[in-house]
Amino acid sequence: MSNAWSWYVIAIVALNILGCVWLLWWTAKRRPGDPKPEDTSHVWDGDITEYNKPLPKWWINLFYITIVFSVGYLFWYGGLGNIPGYSGWTSTGEHDADRARRDALLEETFGVYAGQPLAQLAHDPQARELGRSIFVNTCAACHGSSAQGAPGYPNLTDDIWNWGGQPEDILHTVLDGREGVMPPLGTVLSGIGGDVAITQTAAYVRALRSPDLQQTLRTDQMAAIGGKYFDSLCIACHGPDGKGNQALGAPDLTVGSSMYPNTIDSIRTTIIDGRHGIMPAHRGLLGETRSRLVAAYVWSLSNPAESTPAGQ
Ligand code: HEC
Ligand code: HEC
Repeated sequence: MSNAWSWYVIAIVALNILGCVWLLWWTAKRRPGDPKPEDTSHVWDGDITEYNKPLPKWWINLFYITIVFSVGYLFWYGGLGNIPGYSGWTSTGEHDADRARRDALLEETFGVYAGQPLAQLAHDPQARELGRSIFVNTCAACHGSSAQGAPGYPNLTDDIWNWGGQPEDILHTVLDGREGVMPPLGTVLSGIGGDVAITQTAAYVRALRSPDLQQTLRTDQMAAIGGKYFDSLCIACHGPDGKGNQALGAPDLTVGSSMYPNTIDSIRTTIIDGRHGIMPAHRGLLGETRSRLVAAYVWSLSNPAESTPAGQ
């Protein structure tokens, strides 16, 4: 909680308590100018009128005791913004303790797999099944239940990897997350060659996938001009032949599948606005062992032959 919120909470709590005290005090006595009990014209059961019988003292005192109790409670449990309670209790502390209990329980199930090499996990059908269920629970929301991805979310079943497809690369991706940053280059490009330069560069990006690039460039004028822009603006990250750079997460543009659609429109958007795909870190959520299991499962998807035990 920021300091401003903390003070806001403290002020509201203090005002409420003071308000209660004031209300009790203010309503407890008659003030000069109040009508006489007989003058209010409110009479019930023949002789009960307003003001003729104050609340019993013990009753009023109960109210005061609840207020004293609430103040004690606030100090014991720390209900005043960021000020810690005297007892040391915090909701985060309770949450952490719950979580430690749950983690200990999970450790029993997953502990046997701790520290095993990923290739070994991928060979073990039971470990793979555990990895699959972790995937469905944790990763499928973004990558799809069959791990085939969606626009903006990479397909994990092919052998195209922006960040590397070795078991340890995938584990690193899962544990610490990845952030692909493609800067917006639309202004730079249209500054050099006008808006058409963006379309020409996009055409070149599409041409990069053709089996014979030089042949394609001889017939596709747009792409041929785009190639020059590509050479000056894009190769720092995507490489002179467009094959990408896994250290930066810059995709290989020559392969058959991409994270964002391979249309001129979509590539123009990539160039104009840039892209910023974020794969969240899972170290805190899953811990080391479950991350290894799910990484092994993901690796097994594109390495089925190696992950099946010999003879099966
Ligand atoms: C600073 C490094 C950098 C530069 C310069 C750069 N890119 Fe990128 N590019 C990236 C990264 C990183 C990604 C992945 C973005 C993501 O993960 O969301 C990317 C993604 C792309 C994609 C989407 C690929 C896919 O899988 O869908 C295209 C197309 C692309 N870049 C084209 C270009 C073009 C054309 C240029 C030059 C005008 C260029 N890039 C310049 C780093 C760069
Ligand atoms: C909130 C959505 C989200 C969740 C949840 C998520 N991912 Fe990702 N993941 C992404 C995005 C977006 C990228 C692409 C990052 C980039 O732009 O380079 C990615 C990239 C990856 C990559 C790298 C692919 C490559 O080409 O190198 C792997 C591997 C991966 N995710 C595995 C997982 C696993 C395993 C889980 C579950 C533990 C998971 N992801 C959960 C969004 C997600």
